[in-house]
Amino acid sequence: MVRLPLRLPLTILEEAMTVTLYVCITCRAGETIGEGEATPGKRLHGAILDAGVPDGVSVVPVECLSACSQGCSVALSAPGRWSYVYGRLSEAHANDVVAGVAAYAAAPDGLVPWRSRPEIFRKQSLARIPPIAVVPEAAE
Ligand code: FES
Repeated sequence: MVRLPLRLPLTILEEAMTVTLYVCITCRAGETIGEGEATPGKRLHGAILDAGVPDGVSVVPVECLSACSQGCSVALSAPGRWSYVYGRLSEAHANDVVAGVAAYAAAPDGLVPWRSRPEIFRKQSLARIPPIAVVPEAAE
């Protein structure tokens, strides 16, 4: 078990609070990709960056989120918050993904009211994963 010190430098705490959007750049979304062509996942990643990501959000390209049959996929998480995996996406959804990420980042617990979520986040969620519990160090 990893035990964290009780006092962490502010920069570490700020980094730990960062919301991370993982974008699968190897998703093919059923397309045949020619030599040197960008995958649909890589195009989605580029479109998300072009759309502009809110402060406090890191966009991390990853290879496979195990949702390969579900079009392009992304995952959203932050320490102490529920994590979500969304699928059936394309680069055309980049602005909606960014809007959903912004709402998630702005919600202190990451729980965005249903009606405030973009439609793709309401209808294209593949998984919802509970926050990982931080076990406090036992008193001696
Ligand atoms: S290749 Fe993208 S989820 Fe598997």
